[in-house]
Amino acid sequence: KFDNLAMTPPMGWNSWNKFGCNVDEKLIREVADALVATGMKDAGYTYINIDDCWHGDRDSLGFIHPDPKRFPSGMKALADYIHSKGLKLGIYSDAGSQTCGGRPGSRGYEFQDAQTYAKWGIDYLKYDWCNTEGLKAEGAYKTITAAIRKAGRPMVLSICEWGNDKPWVWGPNVGHLWRTTGDVYNCFDCIKDHGSWKSWGVMQILDKQDGLRKYAGPGHWNDPDMLEVGNGMKEGEDRAHFTMWAMIAAPLIAGNDLRKMSEQTKAILMDKDVIAINQDSLGVQAFKYAVKDSVETWIKPLKSGDWAVCFLNRSKSDKPVEFNWATESVTDDLSGKALNAGQTPYVVRNLWTKKETGATNQPLKATVPGHDVLLVRLSPKPGSK
Ligand code: GLA
Repeated sequence: KFDNLAMTPPMGWNSWNKFGCNVDEKLIREVADALVATGMKDAGYTYINIDDCWHGDRDSLGFIHPDPKRFPSGMKALADYIHSKGLKLGIYSDAGSQTCGGRPGSRGYEFQDAQTYAKWGIDYLKYDWCNTEGLKAEGAYKTITAAIRKAGRPMVLSICEWGNDKPWVWGPNVGHLWRTTGDVYNCFDCIKDHGSWKSWGVMQILDKQDGLRKYAGPGHWNDPDMLEVGNGMKEGEDRAHFTMWAMIAAPLIAGNDLRKMSEQTKAILMDKDVIAINQDSLGVQAFKYAVKDSVETWIKPLKSGDWAVCFLNRSKSDKPVEFNWATESVTDDLSGKALNAGQTPYVVRNLWTKKETGATNQPLKATVPGHDVLLVRLSPKPGSK
């Protein structure tokens, strides 16, 4: 940790998952308006991040400019607008000669670009890895980190080299979050083959996080890619996706059209109890405690001495769940915390239904629908030791 930006996982919105290259200043302003009007801002979402394809050309002195047709008012004016709403603006570049979308990359212009972003008032930089022939990831990302420091404006740095060169090892000293995988694909359980590359369903991305939890913590996070909530999966799938991203302390970067959200999507993205699991200041990712008949049990220790426990049903059919708190022995080898539910009675609260479902002196018994979760929070009973 080298500064105190991102002491909890960053929360915001990014244009890529829904809009791809179709970005312009009107969209960004409207999304910022919607983020405030819908309550997303109050729920904690702060960053409005423009992904690829905002770029125009470099001028004769090498300075980058936004596409004049898409961003006629310029980036400074857009940043001022975003800041006037109490939000922060993120932008996107690439360590190579060109971005993944074929726009000018920052290679050879790192210090000049960082200075330009600082002048515009940029607060967050996602830095991609296309067209980087001959570059080494750690060194390339250290260059842009140095450039941002030199520019003098605090910016969250989102390392996006897809987990190729173990960014979890060197990333904590270089940026605030690092992608652990290739791109997410908007489906619960599938692999999308694009020919020369693949993108990954929510469950596939989740499986690729194995072994990485020890690298994350306050100020430096594993990034399993942005949210697909509200982009077309079933309600239970969106809920499971959001819950698991909360459990593994992932950045919560919404990727849907905030101007047109269903009530279901709003209820998922803005659930205060689930967001609190994600934003817990202990900053420890959940671990997979058990797998039984397609149901995974994930457990996350929380700062207050509470615990979050999630039963993820990966099959398409309903599954019964039974969990005997008194006889299970749960220890988190990372935080050293042990859940002694046999000795300490905890109140068990279902975070999605908002119902208390008894205490840990009783085994938990429930049915979890296919592609959905049961998420509970355990809190020591008032008066217990
Ligand atoms: C890469 C990144 C994506 C997105 C696109 C933009 O694929 O991993 O998140 O930024 O580039 O072109």
